Amino acid sequence: MKLFIQTLGCAMNERDSAHMIAELQNKLNYTLTQDSKEADLILINTCSVREKPEKKLFSEIGAFAKTKKIGAKIGICGCTASHLGEEIIKKAPSVDFVLGARNVSKITQVLERPKAVEVDIDYDDSTYVFASSQDMGIKAHLNISIGCDKKCSYCIVPFTRGKEISIPTDLLLAEAQKLVSNGVKELLLLGQNVNNYGIRFSHSHPKTNFTQLLREISQIEGLYRIRFTSPHPLHMDDEFLEEFANNPIIAKGIHIPLQSGSSRILKMMRRGYDKQWYLDRIAKLKALVPNVGIGTDIIVGFPTESNEDFEDTLDVLKIVEFDTLYSFVYSPRPHTSAYEYDKSMLIPPQIAKERLARLQQLHKEILNKKAQLEIGRIHQVFIENHYDNEGQCFSEGRSSSNKLIKILGKKCDIGSITEVEVTHNEGGALMGKFIREISLGEALSSKNGITLRSYNV
Ligand code: 5AD
Ligand code: SF4
Repeated sequence: MKLFIQTLGCAMNERDSAHMIAELQNKLNYTLTQDSKEADLILINTCSVREKPEKKLFSEIGAFAKTKKIGAKIGICGCTASHLGEEIIKKAPSVDFVLGARNVSKITQVLERPKAVEVDIDYDDSTYVFASSQDMGIKAHLNISIGCDKKCSYCIVPFTRGKEISIPTDLLLAEAQKLVSNGVKELLLLGQNVNNYGIRFSHSHPKTNFTQLLREISQIEGLYRIRFTSPHPLHMDDEFLEEFANNPIIAKGIHIPLQSGSSRILKMMRRGYDKQWYLDRIAKLKALVPNVGIGTDIIVGFPTESNEDFEDTLDVLKIVEFDTLYSFVYSPRPHTSAYEYDKSMLIPPQIAKERLARLQQLHKEILNKKAQLEIGRIHQVFIENHYDNEGQCFSEGRSSSNKLIKILGKKCDIGSITEVEVTHNEGGALMGKFIREISLGEALSSKNGITLRSYNV
């Protein structure tokens, strides 16, 4: 039996897809295919955070239905499944089942039930032990909580993924240990609100928090790096920032969603912090971890956003100099509180698009400037890929600060830890020279994994 799966949306959705693949491989002997025409089962794991992809879903279902093998099943999973539920089968009768974001553990059951719709957002699979993926690789995702308790006024996620429940620490440690024993060296801890870990468990559980969990996971021998996404700026207390700075296993690249630089808009978004507070956390972080990599998410054109509000966002961009930026035009979503605003409060799409372009242009300029500063720096690069094409070889991997660096003329082993000197910047991509391979022990004993050449001479 062959499985074709298409995954949209965030890392959480990728993790859900990986869970479904593992369940289907281990329990029903499915194998993956890249060709939907030869599949016995076609899964679309959907995202509903913005309107456009959700709208495209029905034309995609139509296209798969036309070309699929006779008898092949189509299942719609993920956030749009939670959001639209039964409506999907009514509108697209070729769909065999609908499986909501928080119900992925039922994948083998729904296959047996024609026209099943499982979209209960209170369903608790926080203690379900999923089948193990057959190919663990060197990097793995580890889901540490489900759902989201926040009430950001633009966000549909609490409606598609339900209330927040943390996964018990002992289950996480056992899973992390298993992954590391199978060769995984980098773990990406996942949660919609990842640093709110410990807020609620479905059974009694010792009191804990995200910082404590980081400490416990980093004890696992053989683990090289921990990353996590997405943390909320509000839960970044000093204790967390100090752990982030001082624990060598925690990679020094962090995603801190800003959403807007205007305190007035942040209040309307119900983010719980203002511009000053955000900048204060960043200043503290930069003081503790020089050269830390910082990524962010920004929404432009939120209802009533004035030029002045937008200038505040540009101002934060200039001060923080983010390394990665995911930027979006506001998209009204049903079930959110901002959806109820009067139409007169909406920003005309043309203005929103112009702001997005200005934001992205400024970010590009910042990146070019920052890339110049990288030249001559030595990074610890964890090799994730290599190519060898008729003698032309290169490797690539990420620095602790999460920068992608390409090493020309050297085929390093995947999973090896190397020291690389950045030599130049080619169209935004950092290129580097291989210096040497280092052991895990040595890698962890050097703080940050970032060394300036001047420290070496
Ligand atoms: N419109 C536009 N962008 C949104 N995001 C969440 N909801 C919306 C929306 N209604 C963005 C946020 C979030 C990222 C995953 O998607 O920036 O951090
Ligand atoms: Fe999309 Fe949000 Fe669902 Fe992730 S949690 S798939 S970003 S709607």
